[in-house]
Amino acid sequence: MDLQTRYLGLTLRSPLVASAGPLTGSLAGLTKLAEAGVGAVVLPSLFQEQLPAEDERGWFPVEGGADGRYEARKYFRDLAGPGGGDWPARYLALIKRAVAETDIPVIASLNGGSTGGWTDYASAMQAAGASAIELNVYYLAGDPMIPARDAERRYTEILTTVKAVVSIPVAVKLSPYFSSLGEMATVLDQAGADGLVLFSRFLQTDIDPETFTVSRGLRLSVPAESALSRAWISRLHGLVRCSLAASTGVDSAADVAAYLLGGADVVMTTSALLRHGPQHARVLLDGLEEWMHRKGFKSLAAVRGLLANAPEGRPAYTRIGNLSALEQASHAYGSPGSHQAPIE
Ligand SMILES: Cc1cc2nc3c(=O)[nH]c(=O)nc-3n(C[C@H](O)[C@H](O)[C@H](O)COP(=O)(O)O)c2cc1C
Repeated sequence: MDLQTRYLGLTLRSPLVASAGPLTGSLAGLTKLAEAGVGAVVLPSLFQEQLPAEDERGWFPVEGGADGRYEARKYFRDLAGPGGGDWPARYLALIKRAVAETDIPVIASLNGGSTGGWTDYASAMQAAGASAIELNVYYLAGDPMIPARDAERRYTEILTTVKAVVSIPVAVKLSPYFSSLGEMATVLDQAGADGLVLFSRFLQTDIDPETFTVSRGLRLSVPAESALSRAWISRLHGLVRCSLAASTGVDSAADVAAYLLGGADVVMTTSALLRHGPQHARVLLDGLEEWMHRKGFKSLAAVRGLLANAPEGRPAYTRIGNLSALEQASHAYGSPGSHQAPIE
């Protein structure tokens, strides 16, 4: 079956994309993913804090400053080991080798939270052969007084700054934490985003009451986490001009199929590939084809968006849908109508 797909204006041989993660950071991992049939790969991010221009421009003025950027810089310095690391040079070398040794589009990823010189690296990524840039705007509005509009403006500013220095497509990878995500997506679409990736996952910060420590970690996702991303893909399908990439919670071919039915142009996966190995990409693609045969679909075009939100609004995506789901849950988990029972 022909699984060819368009994403960011690029032609991909399949709708499965290996999203940024450790596997896409090595040539061995990239080669295995390409062999397993992924349509494209997104390299791990080059972080704003890894770029020397940040230091030169004095963006880390306070050692140990409260915003954590000093710690971020120190983290990368330690990671690089003795002699330090020329992260941009390493990154550009990875792009060049990945392009030379795989036959699929290589998408470079830039990760930052404010405008500045770091965005210039997008043009170096293009020169190194990247087919597109994925911009992961990782901005934690930790200051409780930052107005929502100011926080949102950063996203469009970073996007337009990067768009100004490259001619390749640029996708923006977003978190779901906006008060009006639909508007943010529309604004980014109008500002020239070629794609939106829904969603990135923030690091999980937590408190351990036994050890009195605050931990930070990144657990692999589980399929239950995909519901939010799928709901937003379904809502935005047909409303934005740009491509939509689903990211979060894909583990089986059924998860891929569900995202496509919601309207995703491509479906990304990182956790499943780490959990099951790069060859799992082939399992997902074979499973997708098997499902399409079983359900009588002859093309991806027939699948894509079939269960997206309709222009008039599907009940399941509305407040009414919410209420009826609550009713069903009350029947399933409590006595019928118990959520409406009078309090005695
Ligand atoms: C170990 C690990 C490293 C990651 N590194 C990056 C990264 O460098 N840049 C990025 O944008 N996302 C990164 N991600 C996020 C993934 O690209 C992806 O968006 C997220 O894990 C959700 O997809 P999944 O549910 O398929 O894992 C990383 C995820 C994991 C698990």
